[in-house]
Amino acid sequence: MLARIRGRRLLSAKPGIVQMASNIKWIGAIDWDVREFHSLHIPKGTTYNSYLITSSKPTIVEAVRDTLADEWIGHLRTICGDSLSQVKQIVLNHAEPDHTSGMKKLMAMYPHIELVCTKKNFETLSRLYDISKWKRRIIKGDELFSVGEESMLLHEVPLAHWPESCIGYMPKSKIVFSNDAFGQHLAGNQRWVDEVDQDLYLHEARSYYGNILLRLGKPVLKAISAAKSLPGISKVLTAHGLCYRRQEDIERILKLYETWAKQKPVPKVIILYDGNWYGTEKMAHAIASGASTVDSVDVKIFHARKTHITDVATEIIDCPCIAVGSAVLHEDVLPDLATHMSYLRCLGIKDKAGLIFGTYGWTKNAAVKQIRSQLFEPRKVRELAEPLLVPWGPSREELTKCEEEGARMAQEAISIASIK
Ligand code: FEO
Repeated sequence: MLARIRGRRLLSAKPGIVQMASNIKWIGAIDWDVREFHSLHIPKGTTYNSYLITSSKPTIVEAVRDTLADEWIGHLRTICGDSLSQVKQIVLNHAEPDHTSGMKKLMAMYPHIELVCTKKNFETLSRLYDISKWKRRIIKGDELFSVGEESMLLHEVPLAHWPESCIGYMPKSKIVFSNDAFGQHLAGNQRWVDEVDQDLYLHEARSYYGNILLRLGKPVLKAISAAKSLPGISKVLTAHGLCYRRQEDIERILKLYETWAKQKPVPKVIILYDGNWYGTEKMAHAIASGASTVDSVDVKIFHARKTHITDVATEIIDCPCIAVGSAVLHEDVLPDLATHMSYLRCLGIKDKAGLIFGTYGWTKNAAVKQIRSQLFEPRKVRELAEPLLVPWGPSREELTKCEEEGARMAQEAISIASIK
């Protein structure tokens, strides 16, 4: 890639190929500008990681999104020459289009490259694209196949996170290709977690887990157990964001995933609400104020209309107590709260205690019915008290009652967290 700055020619003007191991190069693409990812808010962009095993049988592991296929193919051509004649195969361990749609261009330009994947992955890919002309080799889970001087296998981890999801492993160098697991939506020119601010990457890893994997705790635990049974891991190469090369970082992310998969609670209270004319807002803040009187409890308020669903999902993973409030719109909750409830229901939150609150004009129990049927009943959220409902706006006494219930919730959060 050539460029000029003030008349000087630069040899490489783009963050590009990175050596990840003696025989593996990063050849992925950085999506600096993306902010939306199948309904998720990803304020820091993302990367689609792809790797080239440089060997006597050059092998690509994972593809990129079609919007950045040119950049990816450019990396391959820089290393292997325009014809890519040496490149023998591409291994895919997950079919989702952010890791496969770039294949359409690659396979159209270079039909000699053979796709290597499991049967389930092949079947999924064949529903997403016309792959009838693609050379392919279907392998079984855990079957060793050659990638040159080393071999590799794909271990199936169904529903952690799609049915065809696999983890790649090279037994000789002990390198794991974890695909979506352990990744983060973080655009940047760093490739390893030890190169960036730890709070930043841990927040993004947590957000990734909460939004992509929270529902799938059991399969995730199985996948972690499989990873722990490997005869060692030297590096974890992810499909998004940063990778792991230090043992302490590998151990930390495995432990965190185990904790998140169990939705292990900490003393925390979330208050999620929407209102029109300050009444429900006053109640939400009074509940938060009461909860905050209890030491060591983390209290978060989210206004449904001003908060993205992604951010609540990030916080809910380890939160045992949630208060949900709404003003009534005709016979329903306000629409942004409905969206949040639908998303939380879909994420499979579990083992929570709850409280319903809000204001109403002329249909007293409308929001209560919706909160119960849309969130509390399907996710078995145990109500800690009768709903706190007030007409139009709360009185001083009613706000005191909100404070009392907030404090009770916080005590309950401590109690749940101490048991589990
Ligand atoms: Fe990053 Fe499941 O795709």
